Amino acid sequence: MNPSDLPPLPLDQRPAWKALQSHFQSIGTAHLRELFAEDPERGERFTAQAAGIFLDYSKNRITHETITLLVELAEQSGLRSRIDAMFRGDKINLTENRAVLHVALRAPKSESILVDGEDVIPGVHAVLDKMASFADRVRSGQWKGHTGKAIRNVVNIGIGGSDLGPVMAYEALKFYSQRNLTFRFVSNVDGTDFSEAVHDLNPDETLFLVASKTFTTQETMTNAHSAREWSLAGLGGDESAVAKHFVAISTNAKEVASFGIDTENMFGFWDWVGGRYSMDSAIGLSTMIAIGPENFRAMLAGFHAMDVHFRTAPFEKNLPVLLGLLTLWYTDFFDAQTIAILPYEQYLKRFPAYLQQLTMESNGKHVTLDGTTVATQTGPVYWGEPGTNGQHSFYQLIHQGTRLIPCDFIGFAKSLNPLGRHHDMLMANVFAQAEALAFGKTAAQVRAEGTADWLVPHRVFEGNRPSNVILADALTPGVLGKLVALYEHAVFTQGIIWNIDSFDQWGVELGKVLATKILGELESPTEPAMSHDTSTASLIRRYRASK
Ligand code: F6P
Repeated sequence: MNPSDLPPLPLDQRPAWKALQSHFQSIGTAHLRELFAEDPERGERFTAQAAGIFLDYSKNRITHETITLLVELAEQSGLRSRIDAMFRGDKINLTENRAVLHVALRAPKSESILVDGEDVIPGVHAVLDKMASFADRVRSGQWKGHTGKAIRNVVNIGIGGSDLGPVMAYEALKFYSQRNLTFRFVSNVDGTDFSEAVHDLNPDETLFLVASKTFTTQETMTNAHSAREWSLAGLGGDESAVAKHFVAISTNAKEVASFGIDTENMFGFWDWVGGRYSMDSAIGLSTMIAIGPENFRAMLAGFHAMDVHFRTAPFEKNLPVLLGLLTLWYTDFFDAQTIAILPYEQYLKRFPAYLQQLTMESNGKHVTLDGTTVATQTGPVYWGEPGTNGQHSFYQLIHQGTRLIPCDFIGFAKSLNPLGRHHDMLMANVFAQAEALAFGKTAAQVRAEGTADWLVPHRVFEGNRPSNVILADALTPGVLGKLVALYEHAVFTQGIIWNIDSFDQWGVELGKVLATKILGELESPTEPAMSHDTSTASLIRRYRASK
């Protein structure tokens, strides 16, 4: 083992951590007004850019020393060697003994990455080519349904990473989509989701993409079976229709075949692609059908550009590293519980939901890689809405509530739908909100406006509320790739410092097991013998009595 691969000291024993603790004593209460007054250049200095993504992080409660110490912390945590290990294909997902290679999904053909001695890149490109040829056939109307009609509707059935990436990317890149095709996304086991998704669709023009890494996920399999029944009922019951109306996206050929989908119509991927990191794999088939293979490849090139930056840029200029470190700074030192993601771009309306799985399933962990309880807080809660809607609902709490909520504002220089003054108005709000949060409005300023004394406290804005502003030229497929990769690697950065496994998700298991057991009890024709606590047992009895 390379000495730099040795596990780092426990977080609270790393020298930079200790230095950050005493540094926090001096800077923790400093106001952004003072920080800007002391260092008027900070608005230009605390910025970084790469691959066309610009980050202004000057409105954070930091000084130059904070960044120096955070970068030292990253170094003392072994971030550099862990990045290399991920890109090399090492099995860094320890609890599942798997490589973590979403970066291979967007690597050019000329690269080579070995997993268990085998180069995975040719397989990645073979699947991309198969997807492209299929997507072209659907888009051109060449792929015909059972009755000879072209496909007009594409329904992705999946959940978690097999849904959130596809739906987020479809919404984000709708501008580039083929408009004579309708796209729907079914995820919830609630029958309403499926029923509403298909209620105005014709089975003979509808193609289902069953997206599931494992092909055993209860919600997805239940929806897929209902889709099969719905299709066959509308197509005269001929089983051979399934081949024309269902394709599978999975790593599990055996389960795909036992569902009745010909493995010829299966798009594969690999166990080294985590569900929440899979939108670049065959799981992105709906995206590719919507925007076309060329745009999909442009998206992958965007991801790759950010990968290269993450892998090669010095940490103090490295966008994902900076973003990850700043989140950790607030989470562990300011005790911030949540991070708000505020895209000022309507097309990014599902981006906060997408980031919820990416960040919270990755870093919602309470033990380190060696199984000991973490000494600090780990992954914060992510949430958000596109601007300006949030301003008229929850921004009140961000501005004047009692909690510290670091915000990421995301904006674009150009609108894809220029319309009168709309875009300038939208962007004016980005800059105004970040300014208001940072600098606020003092009691003296409020009084000077002639406000009655009793009303002054209500109208004061304390300010000192941190934010990042992320800017790009326009929301192209490539820029979307860069933004997603930016957050993926920020999550990685944090996970390495916390020394947790950002790539497993054992926390979803217990509920699944209990739900399977309870389902039997809900459906039992006779009163089931139950071994639950009294609350769960009486809820089950009540439901059985009234269903
Ligand atoms: O929620 C747990 C999880 O395993 C996610 O990590 C994953 O994205 C989702 O379920 C769906 O899994 P699959 O693609 O195997 O159906």
